[in-house]
Amino acid sequence: MCGIVGYIGKRDVAPLLLEGLARLEYRGYDSAGMVITSPKSTGLKMVKAKGRVRDLEARVPKRFTGTTGIAHTRWATHGAPSDINSHPHMDPENKVAVVHNGIVDNAAELRAKLEADGVVFASETDTEVLTHLIARSQAETLEEKVREALKVVEGTYGIAVMHADFNDRIVVARNGSPVVLGIGEKEMLVASDIAALIAHTRQIVTLDDGEMATLKADEFRTYTTSGTLTTATPETVEWEAASYDMGGHDTYMHKEISEQADAVDRVLRGRIDEKFSTVHLGGLNLDAREARGIRRVKILGCGTSYHAGMIGASLIEGLARIPADSEPASEFRYRNPVVDPDTLYIAVSQSGETYDVLAAVQELKRKGARVLGVVNVVGSAIAREADGGVYVHAGPEVCVVSTKCFTNTVVAFALLALHLGRIRDLSVADGKRIIEGLRKLPGQIQEILEGEEDIKKLAAEYADAKSMMFIGRVRGYPVALEASLKLKEISYIHAEAYPASELKHGPLALIEPAMPTVAIVPNDSLLEKNRAAMEEIKARSGKILAVAHQVQEKADHTIIVPKNEDELDPILMGIPLQLLAYHTALALGRDIDKPRNLAKSVTVE
Ligand code: F6R
Repeated sequence: MCGIVGYIGKRDVAPLLLEGLARLEYRGYDSAGMVITSPKSTGLKMVKAKGRVRDLEARVPKRFTGTTGIAHTRWATHGAPSDINSHPHMDPENKVAVVHNGIVDNAAELRAKLEADGVVFASETDTEVLTHLIARSQAETLEEKVREALKVVEGTYGIAVMHADFNDRIVVARNGSPVVLGIGEKEMLVASDIAALIAHTRQIVTLDDGEMATLKADEFRTYTTSGTLTTATPETVEWEAASYDMGGHDTYMHKEISEQADAVDRVLRGRIDEKFSTVHLGGLNLDAREARGIRRVKILGCGTSYHAGMIGASLIEGLARIPADSEPASEFRYRNPVVDPDTLYIAVSQSGETYDVLAAVQELKRKGARVLGVVNVVGSAIAREADGGVYVHAGPEVCVVSTKCFTNTVVAFALLALHLGRIRDLSVADGKRIIEGLRKLPGQIQEILEGEEDIKKLAAEYADAKSMMFIGRVRGYPVALEASLKLKEISYIHAEAYPASELKHGPLALIEPAMPTVAIVPNDSLLEKNRAAMEEIKARSGKILAVAHQVQEKADHTIIVPKNEDELDPILMGIPLQLLAYHTALALGRDIDKPRNLAKSVTVE
């Protein structure tokens, strides 16, 4: 999705903005641009290019200097990727420059009105509407001009605005699209993602929806869109700038898969309470009495986070004996759900900004529900909107597809399930058993990662498949779903996931030698049932790759993973399949970190 970066201070702004844009490249984009100025200059200078940030860099003219600027990477929504449609957008007099993330829903209507007033549009974008509205405002200050424009705009936005007549400031606003301020020493930054700020400052302020800010080199002010001042105390982010580098790996995905033992160690750190065989989750805001009153748990997320939520639901149901299920947030919010006061709702999101999840949370809160967040990005919109929650502490995830965040989210759910279980009926012995299992995870993950070379060979063997089937039963089913999603996202091989028990109700018709199956086969009470499913596949000459705790005779190949407690096995079984997807995509020469048509955080509907 689109990215914003802006700076006001004393440094040469163009290289700084280019570096910031490069840090946002992972989000996916099709064009880029920037506008700069300096206190002594009376005009705004612009450069834009369809393509990559390096194409923009190549176009930057000599003596393109300044100390204030805003820049953007665009992901086309209104109008095809082109130089003209890239941001920033300026008015015909080159006074106002706007970069915008989000979508102006009433752009067509506003455009028609402006055109009727004689405005000539240069681009096909919804953003240009905002530019003209701001430029035409008769208000005296830039803040007022922006506020007036936003009053008539419906939709979502994160914007940064510069004006040639007010060149000591950048004005920014947020409604549904992230805007983060970076507070420096006599310099201020703004971005849509911490990634673009972290090399310059760790002090950040995250704007709320309906909030605006004015950035000057040595001060910032935040206020609501109606003008009331708000208090914003900068938070210190702990993420290292180095987390955004590839650190010797060829891709972010590989780096992030490889980091999982450390990441899991982090989500566990400081949370285990041996004395009571439970865990402490400081941000939950749910006391024991309230926890006992929960009758049902509903987990909401999208994509990989929805799959993590499915495993979370089975952990909560298994350990805390509370009926639980996971549903795509994108579906939930549109079906006018019955909101039950005794249900605990949990929103899951790596980015904490996914629009469908955020909208579901807002709808739930409006209806009086209690909502927790299981989120990676500290201070993100969902984290702030929720009544409490658990941070998953995976560190920044740059690759578009999620790996380490999936694993850490599931571990965070295991902690939550243990916590709820120990408040309810989970015995001390079972609590101990799960804690011992959790402690074993980092070492076992490392062991799996050390088998990468073998998985790479298997990937070469399966990479020519046109289509693949993934099956699992009960706890294994979400593992199959997630593995099939990972494979299709980065290798573009068609993949389907089914509960193994459903095979004979239809999908068995697809099985033939050219359609290999990946079977999740843990050593648990369903082992024989899973073996029977493999038997059915073999009887149709289907090729099988099993992920199991011991060699599976019916399978053509087995990836063996270390055994943990039954409840925690799904965490480990997913990891070799991340590597399988990775090496399959690599063998096929795909752009692994930036798969086609996908963006890292989906902040629009
Ligand atoms: C898949 C993937 C996506 C995200 C989904 C939700 O690899 O990363 O399916 O999981 O877009 O994103 P978050 O977790 O940021 O809400």
